[in-house]
Amino acid sequence: MPSIAPPISRSRLLKQYLRWLPDKLGLINRGAFHLQLNKILADDTFIVSYPKSGNTWIRFVLAYMITGSKGKLSFQQVEKLVPDVYVSKDLIDEMPSARFIKTHDTLLSYFPKSIYIVRDYRDVLVSFYHYKIVLKEFEGDFSAFIRSKEITEPFGSWKEHVSKALQFSQDYSNRILFLRYEDMKRNFDQTLQQLSSFTGLENFEPSIIKELTGFENLQQIETENGSEFMNRSGRNFFREGKTGSWKEFISANDLKFIYADAELVSLMNELDYKTE
Ligand code: A3P
Repeated sequence: MPSIAPPISRSRLLKQYLRWLPDKLGLINRGAFHLQLNKILADDTFIVSYPKSGNTWIRFVLAYMITGSKGKLSFQQVEKLVPDVYVSKDLIDEMPSARFIKTHDTLLSYFPKSIYIVRDYRDVLVSFYHYKIVLKEFEGDFSAFIRSKEITEPFGSWKEHVSKALQFSQDYSNRILFLRYEDMKRNFDQTLQQLSSFTGLENFEPSIIKELTGFENLQQIETENGSEFMNRSGRNFFREGKTGSWKEFISANDLKFIYADAELVSLMNELDYKTE
């Protein structure tokens, strides 16, 4: 998330300034310019999601797939294997080929390949709200949160984000793997199989990855080794990891407000997130 990213270095800002004209002339990849990376490589894969949709879970799974699932990996190790574009730009620029990069920006047409993960909007809102509250980045109740710019900036609304990815997956199915958080929870083996076919990573033991990336295990790894989030909030990033807990959290009035957007409801239904 940009809010937890360290400030951009002066040298990177200068580089970005010098690349402004080449970008305008279409001489460099616009995705690279926007993300302030030197280049996007032909074999890059981006892990894309609206915040709080399970991106970190996928990053852990990929990290174990890359390393052949030998031994537990900490948050810090995963950051090196599958870095966050808002946190580790220098590292990403130094990485050789076949990079896996986490982002929330839907610059899909500029990414050679993308793994997109979507999660029920209502669970995303509840997760996002808790995240912002414990980091003290938002003050107010849930009703105020879902009416605030927190959920539309800087990555656009969930509706815009998801519909863009869905459209892209219909137009360019070979360039994007579209996953649902709920499917990953329900049938992890199948998701792992999909990730393996899409990435070509095959040298791992599925049962070990399943075990190591289970919610309780990730929570434990974080408690033992710490994380940036834990340093800042004293809480686990791996908060609850459930589907449908919005039902006990969102009031009837707030649901009515959410469902007032007919396009959003239609998109949710298309993705099998039932609204009735
Ligand atoms: P909750 O806050 O509902 O617990 P992201 O990484 O995109 O920010 O998403 C974070 C959400 O994914 C958090 O949701 C987190 O707990 C959940 N998550 C991470 N790993 C998970 C796992 N192994 N199983 C289920 N949920 C997981």
